[in-house]
Amino acid sequence: MSTVNYSEKIPNNVNLAEDRTLQRALEHWQPGFLNWWQDMGPDGSTAYDVYLRTAVSVDPSGWAQFGYVKMPDYRWGIFLNPADQDRRIHFGDHLGEPAWQDVPGEHRANLRRIIVTQGDTEPASVEQQRHLGLTAPSLYDMRNLFQVNVEEGRHLWAMVYLLHRYFGRDGREEAEALLERRSGDANNPRILAAFNEKTPDWLSFFMFTYFTDRDGKFQLCALAESGFDPLARTTKFMLTEEAHHMFVGESGVSRIIQRTCEVMKQIDSDAPDKVRAAGAIDLATIQRYLNFHFSVTIDLFGADQSSNAATFYSSGLKGRYEEGKRTDDHLLQGASYRLLDVCGGAVVEKEVPMLNALNEVLRDDYIKDSAAGVQRWNKVIEKTGIPFRLKVPHKAFHRSIGTLAGVKVSPEGNVVSEAEWNARRDAWLPSEADRAFVASLMGRVVEPGRFAHWIAPPAMGINRQPVDFEYVRFN
Ligand SMILES: [Fe+2]
Ligand SMILES: [Fe+2]
Repeated sequence: MSTVNYSEKIPNNVNLAEDRTLQRALEHWQPGFLNWWQDMGPDGSTAYDVYLRTAVSVDPSGWAQFGYVKMPDYRWGIFLNPADQDRRIHFGDHLGEPAWQDVPGEHRANLRRIIVTQGDTEPASVEQQRHLGLTAPSLYDMRNLFQVNVEEGRHLWAMVYLLHRYFGRDGREEAEALLERRSGDANNPRILAAFNEKTPDWLSFFMFTYFTDRDGKFQLCALAESGFDPLARTTKFMLTEEAHHMFVGESGVSRIIQRTCEVMKQIDSDAPDKVRAAGAIDLATIQRYLNFHFSVTIDLFGADQSSNAATFYSSGLKGRYEEGKRTDDHLLQGASYRLLDVCGGAVVEKEVPMLNALNEVLRDDYIKDSAAGVQRWNKVIEKTGIPFRLKVPHKAFHRSIGTLAGVKVSPEGNVVSEAEWNARRDAWLPSEADRAFVASLMGRVVEPGRFAHWIAPPAMGINRQPVDFEYVRFN
């Protein structure tokens, strides 16, 4: 059951061949997916041989196989973690009942919405990143980009399988619409704002995979707790792929920081213009990119108070991060939670019913996790003896969703006037000039083992290959 059947047109471990109707429906969707990949996948890449990993089993010990693949031939498929026959719903009003193997009628609309919203982010990020291969700082980095891209394509497959298998005609229509929306399109955009932003350069890409793929991790973790067992099992396997995406982001930013610090030591200066003149990205610019990606990403968790969040939890559709490890009653009736409000020109805390604050609970768990990685980046700076430290901005900074959307708040958490915001904006968020400078550094490096000047090489290669391995072959 856990071994993937690669003899079929659609690789899977769900016995797809036994359900002819479903198999035909998915085989009908497949060419549409491949057309979308041709149109919106990595620019000009269809003939490249890329050293990619492909899932061959869902066993933790050996799911990945590495080899050269042309991306349109990547074996996108359907992989679910093995079923636990005795699994029970472990939170909300259905606590203790057997997990659902089918969609309960009363939760159908909400579950479909959850799956579509998750599914929409997967092709969106591929669209956002589609030009980056043209400016990859090395073959190693280009390969990592493409690995992330094919896996986001597979995540789309994961959600489309659920839509086709469990939601009938509505599900099939939603699966079509997932191929029709486009990131940043004025008429038919992707559902969530952060997935309509541009990812124009590699500093943005690494920040995106660090911060925004980590939002993916937390959403998937919450869905992995779901009472709807097929959703729990598919998101569990997606999480194993997500870990690599966050690694790409964390190590990418870390390597940029390392090179910047090396250059600062060489020229013996911390002046941003001198660092730039020496061909590295100054730490202040890295901080502004961090501020942007962090604030845009924490909006993805939704409004701080949300009756939908309460419904999703109480009805057993979406749990908290690590629900199973928590020791409270898993019902949360009468529990409260502290979140931020604006009162008399200041950001203050207020206590609200926890059930309504579950978006905020997940956002706070996310913030803890992402701040830990920023401390690891600071260790890189510290080792070079440079006193600069990166900081995660205040939760209320640059927000567009919920209570905090209406106020202007500095990265330190002080409410500021519109005039002060406008005056300081370019010190807090990437300016046009910052983006133009970073863009000016971008240029494709294709010689194996060579790296663009603004980024340090990684400590080791992929799958124990050397750093100067030919990770991508152009044909
Ligand atoms: Fe994904
Ligand atoms: Fe991802």
